[in-house]
Parts: sequence; C-alpha cells; structure tokens
Amino acid sequence: MIEIAKNDEFKISDLPGVGLATATKLQEGGYDNLMAIAVASPAELEEATGLGTAIVRKMINYARDKLKMGFQSGADLLERRSQVLRILTSSEALNKLMGGGFETGSIVEAFGEFGSGKTQIAHVLAVMVQKLDPGCYAVYIDTENTFRPERIEQLSKGAGLDPKDVLEHIKVARAYNSDHQMLLAEKVEDLMKEDKLRVRLLVVDSLTAHFRAEFIGRGTLAERQQKLNRHMHTLMRLADTNNICVFVTNQVMATPDVFFGDPTKAIGGHIVAHASTYRIYLRKGKKGCRVAKLIDSPHLPEGEAGFMVKEEGLEDI
Ligand code: GTP
Ligand code: MG
Repeated sequence: MIEIAKNDEFKISDLPGVGLATATKLQEGGYDNLMAIAVASPAELEEATGLGTAIVRKMINYARDKLKMGFQSGADLLERRSQVLRILTSSEALNKLMGGGFETGSIVEAFGEFGSGKTQIAHVLAVMVQKLDPGCYAVYIDTENTFRPERIEQLSKGAGLDPKDVLEHIKVARAYNSDHQMLLAEKVEDLMKEDKLRVRLLVVDSLTAHFRAEFIGRGTLAERQQKLNRHMHTLMRLADTNNICVFVTNQVMATPDVFFGDPTKAIGGHIVAHASTYRIYLRKGKKGCRVAKLIDSPHLPEGEAGFMVKEEGLEDI
C-alpha cells in the first residue's frame, strides 16, 4: 500500500534540478504527478527529458521519499479499511451478500447473460450512492447506450430522493470504442482534480463489450488482454486512491466444452477476474427473480441472494 496524501500539494517544479523546460517535457510525457515519477525507470525519464542518469535518479528518489513508499502496518491497513463506505440497495439479501453493501475502494464485477440485471444494478447504485454520501457524484461510462435517465427518475422516487437532484449528480459519458472507454476512465481523475467533484461511484457498463467486438479471433487476443489489463489498472488506482466504488459489468460466453455445472464463463478471463475485488454472477431465477452469486471474494463466504427488479428499486423476495 502506498500513501499518496501528499500528491495534491506537489508541483513538478519542486523536483530537484527541474526548471521550466524540463517540467514541461515531463508533463507532456505524462509524468505529471509524484506516483508517475516514483515508479518510472531512469531510462524512461532520461528519454522524456534528455537529462543524464544522475539527475533523473535524484528526481526518482525525491518522488519516492515524498510518497513514503514502503510498507504499512496491519493496523494502518485496518484504519484504511475503516474508511470504506458501503452503498446500500433496497434488497437486504443483496446487501448482505456483499458484506453489508457495495464497497468503496473496490472493483465490483457483475457478470451474467443478457437481461440478468447488470445494467439495472448499475442504475440502482447511481441513485443509492446519494443516500450514502449526499452531493457526491456518480460517473457512468456507457458503452452500449443503455443508460436511461427516465429509469433514474423512477428509482429516485422509489428511494425518496429528488429525481432532478440525483440526475444532476450523475455524469454520463458514452464510449464509442475501447480506446475512448480507456480515455474516459483516465479523465475521471480530472473531474475530481479540476472540477473538484467528489466522485464516489464509477460505473463501466459494459467493461468488455468493445474489447470483445474489436479483437475478434485468437491472433489478437494477447493484445486485447494487454489493453484490458491497462484499463483494469486505471480502475484499480481510481478505486484505491480515491475511495471510489467501481462497478463494472461483463458478459458471459458459452463454453460448450463444459458439460457439468454452468456452461458460461466471463469475458476477459483472469485479467478481469484478478483485478476485481468482488465478483457476482447474475442469473435469471424463477418467476422473474434474479439470483446473485458471490464468487471468490477475499473475506466473505460464497453465497447467493435472490431479489426482484421493481420499478422503485430492488426488492427482496
Ligand atoms: P445485457 O446488458 O443485455 O447483457 O443485460 P443486463 O444484465 O444489463 O440486463 P438489464 O439490467 O438491462 O436487465 C433487464 C431486465 O430488468 C429486464 O428484462 C426487466 O426484467 C428488468 N427491468 C428493467 N427495467 C425495469 C423496470 O422499470 N421495472 C421492472 N419491474 N423491471 C425492469
Ligand atoms: Mg446491460
């Protein structure tokens, strides 16, 4: 775990041996914060600035010092865990399955077939985050054009919130391809820094659809996984350093070679699975109900929760 509290007060020109020209070069190369410099290799910075090894090493050491990179005690981590907030839905069963709600500081991945309720849960969270932290913002990256403001109105009324106010606090961006999607995720940091918005929820619906459509065939699978990996790291950093709940949706593909159990598998393979803190598998149950199953969570038992999607929100069965 890395402490980044000091990052806000940092100016590139504070670095030893950095004048205006070098500061500009660093910024243009994307080295505009302490973390980027602390984790850069000397060779990278030499290339970006044209400076010699000795001086870039000094810069890196300075950034590392400032960040207090290193180890934290278990007690520090427990303290961090106590800052975790939980977004509640109106389904107690689902909240309980998630260990008391959808956690900030985490990536929650929901995967399941079409109509299993992934987009509905995303809408519910975008509304209910207002109950947790009134006046905060939800950012919604919509890749499939399925965000519906009318649905937000219904859910807000159901939750006893002012629909207009809730809509004001959701920033929606339509992503047209995977590069655009990645760029939008990177821009969330700007919303917080430059526009001073307190973002508490980030939805990416769907995380994998563009990647899947653009990289068809085995030849390009490695490249796709590499890009997806980069995207997941952006999301992890956002969740971790800003105490944001990142909710991503994922499709499933049929795996005909599986004869026993559920013949479906999430897209994106181990890269998405590893980066997600919580994974829930959604399926359609009897009489229109939806069943969520928690899969490989760090500290919660595996279990299932059944709920209904109603006009006013989620409801226990
Ligand atoms: P894909 O994006 O196609 O993979 O599916 P998804 O998992 O995102 O499904 P989604 O969340 O869109 O679920 C759609 C289902 O939610 C519909 O089949 C409806 O059963 C239910 N639903 C959507 N809107 C409402 C509503 O206003 N009221 C009620 N009662 N149910 C709704
Ligand atoms: Mg959907």
